[in-house]
Amino acid sequence: MPNNTDSYKKIGVQPIAGALGAEVTGVNLRHFDDATFAEVRRAFADNVVLVFRDQNLSGVEMETFARRLGDLSIVAYINPIEGATYTARLLRLAEAKSGARNYGDRWHNDQSIRLVPPKAFLLQNVDCPPYGGGTMFSSLYKAYDGLSDGMKKLCESLIVVHSGSGVFGKTAKGGAGAKKPIQAEGSVTSFRFDDLDFEKYMSAEVEHPLVVVHPETGRKFLYVTGDYCVRFKDMTEIESKPLLDYLHAQAARPEYTCRVRWSPGALVLADNLCAQHFAVNDYAGYRREMYRLEIAGDAPPVGPAMPVRDPVRAAAE
Ligand SMILES: [Fe+2]
Repeated sequence: MPNNTDSYKKIGVQPIAGALGAEVTGVNLRHFDDATFAEVRRAFADNVVLVFRDQNLSGVEMETFARRLGDLSIVAYINPIEGATYTARLLRLAEAKSGARNYGDRWHNDQSIRLVPPKAFLLQNVDCPPYGGGTMFSSLYKAYDGLSDGMKKLCESLIVVHSGSGVFGKTAKGGAGAKKPIQAEGSVTSFRFDDLDFEKYMSAEVEHPLVVVHPETGRKFLYVTGDYCVRFKDMTEIESKPLLDYLHAQAARPEYTCRVRWSPGALVLADNLCAQHFAVNDYAGYRREMYRLEIAGDAPPVGPAMPVRDPVRAAAE
């Protein structure tokens, strides 16, 4: 990672792990000049995950900041919080049963089931437990870079079929409670299923290249997104599983990860393409509340196996 922390003039950038993640100081995300924003963008490209402490932004303020990075979007089955348009609440109650799942408690990228997945997201802590409840991230750049030349070549030839069926469908791998997000016990998020055929939405399939070239940095990364990856194109699930399992294990190697410890008002800007994330479910008995906001992707992911995507279909989505 080209990460010269002394090269910043307006902000402080302190890495929190070797692979990815940095704490940024000296910026108030409500008010900043163009030079500061340019440094934030550079730090984001270099570190993939940025942590800004004590921001305490409202949903609308989060959206104002995020619009500097691109168009906004929202998961089709989640309602925004009051007053905001795209910002959603992820809340887990202290009364949640021990052992109950919380959202995102498996390695994944968000919404890779879309032809144009969100390119980034903001997460802000509103209320955090006294310990635990951290969010882990893993670098998919590192996961790719760490492969042998032969495995890189193989991966660059493959296309992955993504679907929500592995997350919320009948054969969901996430275990009990994974059938519909609303069934996650103790988690309170506002859903809208009325105008959405949930089964259809979740069983639709979309293809992405296994190795993707990052649209901003030009670096290759391994685009494996957890349970959304159901099989390789032109292969069966059984045939695909051993290699997908290996690549997911590769992506989760501890030296490719970092863990963000939350504090009230801390806001994270995370790349949703070249990083996986994992909401650690280790705070039974405590309340945890987050605001989540996603930034829409600009185009379908491209890579050696899919150098050109269908712009007509992308525009229609
Ligand atoms: Fe997530």
